Amino acid sequence: MRLLVCGGAGFIGSNFVRLRLAGGDEITVLDKLTYAGRRENLEDLDVRLVVGGIEDPGAVADALEGCDAIVNFAAETHVDRSIAEPDAFVTTHALGTYTLLEAARERSLRYVQVSTDEVYGSIETGSFTEESPLQPSSPYSATKAGADLLVASYHHTFGLEALICRGSNNYGPYQYPEKLIPLMVLNAMHGDKLPVYGDGMQVRNWIYVEDFGRGIGTVLERGEPGEVYNVGGPDEAPNLEVVTKIIEYTGADDSLIEYVTDRPGHDRRYSLGSEKVRALGWEAQVRFSAGLERTVDWYRENRAWWEPIRSGDYRAYYERQYGRALG
Ligand code: NAD
Ligand code: TYD
Repeated sequence: MRLLVCGGAGFIGSNFVRLRLAGGDEITVLDKLTYAGRRENLEDLDVRLVVGGIEDPGAVADALEGCDAIVNFAAETHVDRSIAEPDAFVTTHALGTYTLLEAARERSLRYVQVSTDEVYGSIETGSFTEESPLQPSSPYSATKAGADLLVASYHHTFGLEALICRGSNNYGPYQYPEKLIPLMVLNAMHGDKLPVYGDGMQVRNWIYVEDFGRGIGTVLERGEPGEVYNVGGPDEAPNLEVVTKIIEYTGADDSLIEYVTDRPGHDRRYSLGSEKVRALGWEAQVRFSAGLERTVDWYRENRAWWEPIRSGDYRAYYERQYGRALG
């Protein structure tokens, strides 16, 4: 396929690009290169990179030249940042998604929107299905839910071949260290404190990034237009268990754990049922313990990837967010 991958210089997007190139696709990436989007993530790959926002119709038209489908990963993705500064979330998720949908409609292109389990809100027991109501809690998840509704409307109203793929919490190589797992891995490696929000018993449903990428590929190739597909990981774990495993895999000390003020409006548990995408032939392949060990190894072996992040603007972000400097 000739794919336009929006947000392809970020964590999941760049892993997806790597996977699809290996399968023979031709790829153009459209990416604004925000703090989370990095040329380094695509350095070794044969792709055309267009630098621009998905909310810019000119950049979208340029990037779409010669493409026959769009997969949209482009987003602001950190819940804590959406609480501190929500404006970019509204622009990218609302205006950006609208601009891409218009471009897809004009050209009759297949369109996959990459979304999140967070649009369903928190669930105490059981798992969300694609029929569960949308009850987003944060500015991040609320604007992602808004984008999903707009995508659905373009199928319903204009017959656009649009599909939505909702993933659970991803982890793996190239994840920016503001997110739980890479943050804890790098802090543990440096002997920095491990900041656990609240009681640390919030549960997340972890999926290895390549499993999610294969799920999105399955939906792109075999999904039914107008449908939503959940792609959840095989394991759930409370945050404290995740941090304890990271301490074990890095050889750090338990005393680094520090309980800090909870995130406002913090969702307690996410859990996705993925029967519908399984019926298309997808299955998660990587269990959490094995994937986490692999991820710790990647960060150990790829110092050149994260060193510029840990010594740049990220330090100021960290100090604002956690009220203490990195060591
Ligand atoms: P990320 O923050 O690592 O990457 C986002 C990418 O989008 C970056 O390359 C950034 O430069 C780009 N971008 C941001 N705004 C843009 C704009 N206006 N125009 C063009 N590019 C822009 O995020 P990620 O974790 O790779 O997430 C990718 C997608 O997957 C998002 O849509 C997110 O909602 C979804 N998702 C993420 C997770 C997760 O656990 N990380 C889980 C489920 C779904
Ligand atoms: P995060 O990686 O931000 O993903 P999300 O909020 O989208 O699920 O956080 C995962 C969980 O880890 C979430 O319950 C918040 C918690 N967390 C901490 O306890 N400490 C931290 O420093 C971070 C970044 C997250």
